[in-house]
Amino acid sequence: MTDNAKEIYTCAVLTLSDKGSRGEREDTSGPFLCDLLTSNGYTLSAYEIIPDKLELISKVLVDWVDEKAIDLIITTGGTGVSPSDVTPEATAKVVERELPGIAEAMRAVSFEKTVNAVLSRGIAGIRKESLIINLPGSRKAAQENIEVVFPALAHALYKIKGGMQDCTPPDTAPK
Ligand code: MTE
Repeated sequence: MTDNAKEIYTCAVLTLSDKGSRGEREDTSGPFLCDLLTSNGYTLSAYEIIPDKLELISKVLVDWVDEKAIDLIITTGGTGVSPSDVTPEATAKVVERELPGIAEAMRAVSFEKTVNAVLSRGIAGIRKESLIINLPGSRKAAQENIEVVFPALAHALYKIKGGMQDCTPPDTAPK
């Protein structure tokens, strides 16, 4: 197995949106992320839209890691500063190790595009052998953020699972 073997990794996308979960707003970020992941070789195991409820978000993340053993979980939405934005707190509750470089890089590159990048509090972290990454909610913001770190994700998963090969240059950019 090499760290380029994305085909072996499962993934899931969790959209956090009160309106989306009630069917009052179309989720464009979730389907975009599902397409991005599957067109780059990941196998989609789950996609859900749920409301911005801290306990519920944590419960879904734990279920996807502990029961379904999904390798890569991408959340979108609920990272901002509104009272209802609780995705980072829900994620922090369930990760065992934070991976700050992912969020740092996404915010740094995003800041070159919009000063509002500083308003995303998203984090990334590891639970068991799974990687969880928070993205902002708009499709544009989700795309601008995930593109920054996407080439490093297959190698991250390889290492998280105990891969022993030396580190190699990043994989190619997403299609
Ligand atoms: N990052 C990028 N790259 N592009 C964006 O348009 N929007 C920002 C920020 N990060 C944005 C971005 C805005 S306006 C907000 S409020 C925060 O993400 C949080 O978004 P969320 O509450 O939808 O998660």
